[in-house]
Amino acid sequence: MCGTQSRPERRLDNEINQERLDVLIQRAQQAIAQDEKEVPAFWKTKYKTEAAKNWDIFYKRNTTKFFKDRHWTDREFTELADQSKDQQCLEVGCGVGNFVFPLLADNPRMFIYACDFSKRAIDMVKANAGYDESRCKAFVCDLTANALTDTISENSLDLAETKVSAIFVFSAIPPEKMSTAIQNIYSVLKPGGQVLFRDYGIYDEAQVKFSAASDKRLDSNFYVRQDGTMSYFFSTEDLQARFEAENFKTLECQYIYRETINRGMEKRVDRIFAQAKFQKQ
Ligand SMILES: C[S@@+](CC[C@H](N)C(=O)[O-])C[C@H]1O[C@@H](n2cnc3c(N)ncnc32)[C@H](O)[C@@H]1O
Repeated sequence: MCGTQSRPERRLDNEINQERLDVLIQRAQQAIAQDEKEVPAFWKTKYKTEAAKNWDIFYKRNTTKFFKDRHWTDREFTELADQSKDQQCLEVGCGVGNFVFPLLADNPRMFIYACDFSKRAIDMVKANAGYDESRCKAFVCDLTANALTDTISENSLDLAETKVSAIFVFSAIPPEKMSTAIQNIYSVLKPGGQVLFRDYGIYDEAQVKFSAASDKRLDSNFYVRQDGTMSYFFSTEDLQARFEAENFKTLECQYIYRETINRGMEKRVDRIFAQAKFQKQ
């Protein structure tokens, strides 16, 4: 399953032209195929067992300055912008709230549960001027080890009104632990509740860079950064299979292409993301 590497075919707005995409994918496939060396077993285990610690150090070093606020919620997941009724959202792996705070500001009828396994990140969420306990509850939780039902009651997140957002968090989870994290989310959703997912897609420029370094590979499509945090790249088939194996129904699952400009280096960067919506049956 994890090795499935289909060719991304969907193109959306802000699209890269087809020729450019073909070159990008070909280059990515070559780089990935040549990257045969894996990180030694001792280090693999160490990175995985120290994942929370490494993210905590990441936030100590970068504080709230690393990720940009994600103001695309109403464009990518329009249901979150619906103000015709009260809504609840659970953001898993919320970091310092780059997804949470724009959403709270954009939708006054939204209540957000936000969790992360980095205590430092959660402390920063709570210290944010936009943190209001009547609209947000932030808590520490390792999705692969702590039951979400310890904080949110079982099956309580309601039908059409509730979404779980998983924004660039599953890529940080070792592939063999993803099913536990998915089951954990499943346990708090009521039937009909949805997971809104966005993360790195295979052949993304970042994966090419990891492959070119040739000493970063932990597993198929799974790498470690210099600071010990990890990153997985999803094909849509792989992603879909993981959620469907845990009884979710796929409503949408596609690649998103974005051509971005790295201002510091004045360089064009091609990004490929996997974006999906899954529903608890
Ligand atoms: C790339 S950041 C994304 C943060 C946020 N979702 C956003 O969009 O800005 C990934 C986050 O996932 C968290 N994380 C990684 N593995 C986790 C796990 N097993 N349980 C809970 N949080 C986790 C990390 O601490 C980090 O804050």
